[in-house]
Amino acid sequence: MTLMSFFVLGIIGWITYKIFIWPFYISPLRKFPGPPSESLLYGNLKTLMREEYGVPQLRWIKKYGNVIKYHGLFNKPTLLIADTKLVQEITLNKPYDFIKPYNASGISLVGRGLVYAEGHVHKRQRKTSSPAFTYSNVKEMVPSFVRIGSTLKGLIEEKINSGETNINLTPYISKATLDVIGLVVNINNKLPVEEKMTDDELKYQSMTFLFTGHETTSISTCWALYFLAQHPHEQDLLREELVKAFPNKSKFNPTYEEINSLEYLNCIVKETLRLNSPGSNIKRINLKDEVLGNYFIPKNSEIILSISTIHKLPEIWGPTADDFDPKRWLDPTLMNNISNLNYLPFNNGPRNCIGSKVALTEFKILLGMLIRNFVFKPIEGFHIRKRAFPAPKPDPYLGLAVSIVES
Ligand code: HEM
Repeated sequence: MTLMSFFVLGIIGWITYKIFIWPFYISPLRKFPGPPSESLLYGNLKTLMREEYGVPQLRWIKKYGNVIKYHGLFNKPTLLIADTKLVQEITLNKPYDFIKPYNASGISLVGRGLVYAEGHVHKRQRKTSSPAFTYSNVKEMVPSFVRIGSTLKGLIEEKINSGETNINLTPYISKATLDVIGLVVNINNKLPVEEKMTDDELKYQSMTFLFTGHETTSISTCWALYFLAQHPHEQDLLREELVKAFPNKSKFNPTYEEINSLEYLNCIVKETLRLNSPGSNIKRINLKDEVLGNYFIPKNSEIILSISTIHKLPEIWGPTADDFDPKRWLDPTLMNNISNLNYLPFNNGPRNCIGSKVALTEFKILLGMLIRNFVFKPIEGFHIRKRAFPAPKPDPYLGLAVSIVES
C-alpha cells in the first residue's frame, strides 16, 4: 500500500468514526432521548431550517421530554434544554462554567466585546458598560426615542399620502431601531473617567451594541405589529388605552414613567416577547464534565437553552400556550407561576441582556406611537412566516395594510 492509500484510508476511518460511531455508540449524549437523525451529513438540521423557527424544538420537547438530544452537522449530538431547573443551573448558578460557543464570524464582526467575552474579562467589561444602561440614562433617552418614533410615523404617513397602503414596514422599523442604537453608543462615550474603556474596547462595545441591540428590537416591534394586525380586537384595546392617555395624537410625547404605566401596552410587549422573542435560542458549551439533575453532560457538549419552547410549555402557560393572548398577563393565578426562570426573553443571571431597559422602553414608545397613529391589517393573500435562520424575523418581510387614525 502506498502512503497515499494509508492517508485516504485514515481519512475515511476518521469520518466514519465522527459521523457513525462516536455519535451513536460512544458519546454519553447518545443516551438522551430525541428525534432520530435524518441525514448522515446534516443530522436534524434540515428540519430545523425548513420549518418555522421553534416549531420542531417544541414538537420534540413535547414528544421526548424537557431535556433531549438532536443531531447537528455531521451528526454531532446537541442538547436541547427546556427544563427550568437546569436553565437556572446554567444561567444563574454556574454561568461562567458554560461559555458561548466560539463564533469566528461573530467575533470578526464585532470583536470581543460583551457578547463574546468570557470569565473575568466579561465581568470587567460588564462593570464598565453597565453605567450606560442605568435607569437615569435610559430615562434621559426617552425624548430621543419619541423623536425617532415621530420620524418613523412621518415616513409612513408620507407613504400613505402618496397612495400606497400595503407597506413593507421592515426597513422603516429597522432604521428607527438603528437610530436608537446610535444614541446608546453615544452614551458609552460619555461615561465618567473611572468607567472609561480603552479605544479598542470602546470600538468592540459600540459594534456589539449595534449588532445586539438593533435587530432584536426591530424584530420584536415587527412581531408586535404582526400580532396586532392578526388580532384587531387587541389592537383596538391598545389604541383605546393610548387615546385615553394621549387624547391628542400629535402630542404623543410620553415620559419614561408614563409609557411604563400603560398596562395593556405592557401586556402586549410581554406577550410578543413570550411568543416570538428574538433571543430565544441561548447556546452554551460546558467547560468541564457536569452532572445536572440526573444527567451527566460530558465536557464540551453543545447545549441550547430553548427559551422559545419554555415560553410555550402548556404546563406553565396552560392550554392557550400557543395563542397570542395579552390578557394572560393580567391573570393573578398565572402571574404567581411566572418568574425570571420560566419567562426569559432577556435571559437571566450575569449574562442577561444588558440593554433590556433600553429595549423595552424603545419598543413601547415605537409601538405606542404607531398604534396611536395608524391601523394595521393583514394584506389579503400575503403570508408571513417566522424565518428559522439566522434570526426569527418575519419572512419575507412585515407587509401590512396601513391606514391613518383620524383623531
Ligand atoms: C427586544 C430586544 C432584545 C432582546 C429580546 C434581547 C435579548 C438578549 C438575550 C436573550 C441575551 C442573552 C444572550 C446569551 O446569553 O447568549 C442578550 C444579551 C445581550 N444584549 Fe440583548 N436583547 C435585546 C435588545 C438589546 C439592546 C437594545 C441592547 C443594547 C443596547 C442589547 C445588548 C445586549 C448585550 C451587550 C448582550 C450581552 C450581555 C452579556 O453577555 O453580558 N440587547 N440580549
